[in-house]
Amino acid sequence: MTNIKQAPKKDVSTKIYVVSDLKKLTAKEFKKEERDYLGTKLKEDFSYTTINRYSELIYVVKSGKDLNFLNCEKMRQEGAKIAKDLNSNKIKEVLIIDRSAGESYSLSEGIALANYQFLKYFTDAKKKENSLKTIFMDVPTLTAADLKHLSYKVEANLWARDMVNEPLSFLTAEQFAKEFKSQGKKAGFKVTVFNKKKIESLKMGGLLAVNKGSIDPPTFTIMEHKPAKARNKQPLVLVGKGVVYDTGGLSLKPTANSMDIMKCDMGGAAAVAGAMYAITKANLPVHVIALVPATDNRPSGNAYAPGDVIRMMDGTRVEVLNTDAEGRMILADALCYAKKYKPELVIDMATLTGAAIRAIGSNGMVIMGNADDKVFEQIEFAGHMTHERTVRFPFWDDYADQIKSKIADIKNLGGANAGMITAGKFLEHFTDHPYVHIDIAAPAWNDAASGYLSHGGSGNGVRMMFEFVKNYKK
Ligand code: BES
Ligand code: MN
Ligand code: ZN
Repeated sequence: MTNIKQAPKKDVSTKIYVVSDLKKLTAKEFKKEERDYLGTKLKEDFSYTTINRYSELIYVVKSGKDLNFLNCEKMRQEGAKIAKDLNSNKIKEVLIIDRSAGESYSLSEGIALANYQFLKYFTDAKKKENSLKTIFMDVPTLTAADLKHLSYKVEANLWARDMVNEPLSFLTAEQFAKEFKSQGKKAGFKVTVFNKKKIESLKMGGLLAVNKGSIDPPTFTIMEHKPAKARNKQPLVLVGKGVVYDTGGLSLKPTANSMDIMKCDMGGAAAVAGAMYAITKANLPVHVIALVPATDNRPSGNAYAPGDVIRMMDGTRVEVLNTDAEGRMILADALCYAKKYKPELVIDMATLTGAAIRAIGSNGMVIMGNADDKVFEQIEFAGHMTHERTVRFPFWDDYADQIKSKIADIKNLGGANAGMITAGKFLEHFTDHPYVHIDIAAPAWNDAASGYLSHGGSGNGVRMMFEFVKNYKK
């Protein structure tokens, strides 16, 4: 973990100057030869170079001229490069000195995100650990609150990556619930975990059906941040898909190797719980509740089967035509449960469909729903702010025709096309409130490291959701 803190009184021997213009470096700070050198080296915006003074290592980053979304992302990417360099120089702490429009915010974000490692399962983890531990910030345009929020977002994102990277051999549904409890303790949000008995008494038929093939019991976790003075009258409810492992069940995943990464199928739950952490730490004045239904999905003698008809929490009968469409089964019950809060808005995040991956690849989240356009604009904006971008898909009722069943109220499988939308329409059936569905099947996992994103879990959605809630207006 990299700490992001206000600049200390003591001197820090490794410094990063962030300048929109080299003229902002004073003669006291840089000798003439150094400034000439920087002039030849830093001709382009978004580039950096180093000056080694032996007792001091100095980085100079040329930023853009103004704070816009793209420039912020370019600065994060510069941060990722610098993080590598700092670690190869065995630097432990660094001071960022800002002479830009405040782009150091994104630079430090990029450094901290890039500095992530998942070393838990290496015997020689200590040896492999990055040297960089602390980023000090001397950035006049940023308030103490800005820095705190940044640091919470990063922390929450990295925690979500950890959760996604944890295999089923550790992260069962019960263990996942324990992790939520410990996050709740750290941040100060309330956590209630329902065990299998309670889930049975609530008649969460979807969650229980998916869990039937498992040797581990399911859990249902409720997390709540209720500030004294909330901006909203009725809560915002976030729902996260918590499939801790997805084999497909009896409809076993047909594609070679596609199961290898299926520990990522709780990425939605990690994202909403991560967001809860940052939201609570920052004490955002918004009443937010997060719900996570969790189980693994696997075949066994007792597993639910294609053809089964399942009675969901609200009484809806669902014909199961593919046990690999399990995410919507467990989310449906969580959406039913959400009704009791009479929420102002319900948003789910889920690694739900391969169709979403094929539609836009891993560069964004697929979003859709029946909430007001204003909500979608705010989500899209938060997506650009954090570079966790979203693309809105249609949500016409015509798509619901595909999930009509011949023998029950609805079926859990649509036709060959627009699978991400028929999945969304299935979920919409279970909610009575303004609703947004976010499919993060693609961005939740990275097959290869790139920039500030590591191989494996990405924590995608945490930062976007935090910014959305922070700026949320009905
Ligand atoms: N967890 C998968 C979706 C997924 C695929 C997430 C790849 C991450 C990477 C989901 O449960 C699933 O299996 N979806 C099926 C649904 C289909 C059977 C209707 C899919 O998209 O193929
Ligand atoms: Mn599946
Ligand atoms: Zn799944």
